[in-house]
Amino acid sequence: MQGERIGNIDRIRENLSSSGQEHLLRFWDELGPAERAGLLEQINELDLDKIAGWVETLVKRAPDVPVRHDGFEPAPSYGVSPATDAERTRYAQALQLGKELIAAGKVAAFVVAGGQGTRLGFDGPKGNYPASPIRNKTLFQIFAENIGAVSRRYGAVCPWYIMTSPLNHSETVSIFESNDFYGLNRRDVFIFQQGTLPNFGFDGRILMAGKASVARSPDGHGGCIRALARSGALKDMRNRGVEYLSYWQVDNPLVKLFDPLFVGLHALDGAQMSSKAVIKNDPKEKVGNFCLIDGKVNVIEYSDLSDELAEKRGPDGSLAFRLGSIAIHIINTDFVAKLNTEGFTLPLHRAVKKIPHIDPQGRPIEPVEPNGVKLETFIFDALPMAERSIILEIDRAEQFAPIKNATGVDSAESTRQMMVERAARWLESAGVAVPRKADGAPDCLIEIAPSFALEPEDLKPRRDQIAAIQPGDQVYLG
Ligand code: UD1
Repeated sequence: MQGERIGNIDRIRENLSSSGQEHLLRFWDELGPAERAGLLEQINELDLDKIAGWVETLVKRAPDVPVRHDGFEPAPSYGVSPATDAERTRYAQALQLGKELIAAGKVAAFVVAGGQGTRLGFDGPKGNYPASPIRNKTLFQIFAENIGAVSRRYGAVCPWYIMTSPLNHSETVSIFESNDFYGLNRRDVFIFQQGTLPNFGFDGRILMAGKASVARSPDGHGGCIRALARSGALKDMRNRGVEYLSYWQVDNPLVKLFDPLFVGLHALDGAQMSSKAVIKNDPKEKVGNFCLIDGKVNVIEYSDLSDELAEKRGPDGSLAFRLGSIAIHIINTDFVAKLNTEGFTLPLHRAVKKIPHIDPQGRPIEPVEPNGVKLETFIFDALPMAERSIILEIDRAEQFAPIKNATGVDSAESTRQMMVERAARWLESAGVAVPRKADGAPDCLIEIAPSFALEPEDLKPRRDQIAAIQPGDQVYLG
């Protein structure tokens, strides 16, 4: 196979040349057999038929299609709690159905963890970031403990699919192995890689990371649609009878995995892909905005929503576009399969970046200014492809505290604080007194392990296992 491919080098050179990328073989004569095979493998992965088009429409300049600033309507949503009798009945039915689906093993956990996490400045997969306030449990451990607790509660196998990228796949696998899969059955944890897209210089030429390697980056969280199919994960789901994926991003330790209400509302409404939303803190909060376009739910990034629309208010004074995306979805496995059979593509988004590469003489260049373009796809662009899609509002303080930055907003510090505050509220709702400072913040650290309580209602029956809390205490309930 290898010999055959190398024998075809002239044909490959021709193909590359017709899309303006023949320079990828510039150092061919200097390479040994293994390097040649590796490079050909990478060239083989390139979608050469499409690359010339991308270069013209996305790389050399920003796309011609102007960002759309009109035709959006606010998207409808289910509120945090039901407001009418009819809604109360619907929520109760949904809750029951959701519990049945989880107990029947029809729901799987799916986290996307292939990103680079550059903003956090953390070395290694972001899922290995220590996040919990007392035990410093990593994000992966928190999710694993959640999944274990849900599985015990429902007496069901709750498989966990984890998408990594070539940047962090082997490290992620070794983290799971060295932690013995955090007590989960390793047969129920499926770690697979997403694809990559080449990085371009502004002239449209693909950059080279080395003499035998193409500069590439993960193809965005939207890449999961294809990767689920290619990796065999979708097949594994089918074998297990999994019909719904509970999708979330690796940076949010407060996520409520396997939320029976969300699963149930989604299933009752016959939706294919649904979302959770928070009410935005301010009109320009840096989250995606849920909108209806031609009757379909779409997410418009904050950067693409005009100030006028962002500030628009309804008769009651609330923001018209108030629903912010927290990147939590239910996605039907059938929907993923269908997208994969229909010559599927998600739109590519362009990001101008500093991309390390080698120059034509083979010398490494670490750019100080942006020097090229990375392309990626976003999972929420699949929403309008669903026939039906619902949105469930959630209480931010209960379910959304992403770790994105090293300090300040959405940082490890703010997340820890939210974890402690949530634990304090849960304890108080069970009748446990929590010392608080003059400003109302808990005057102690509290960490509740998922095995101890998955929701506030779990605490009441365990009330007598919880000792009185004194100011300054560190209370771990596990
Ligand atoms: C994202 C959303 C934003 C949402 C916010 C909520 C985008 C463009 N924006 O922002 O609408 O309000 O989260 O927290 O997504 N990932 C991969 N592979 C990739 C790229 C990313 O698996 O190729 C994963 C990351 O590991 C992470 C998640 O996707 O779990 C989000 O990626 P990130 O780039 O951090 O998104 P945000 O810009 O924070």
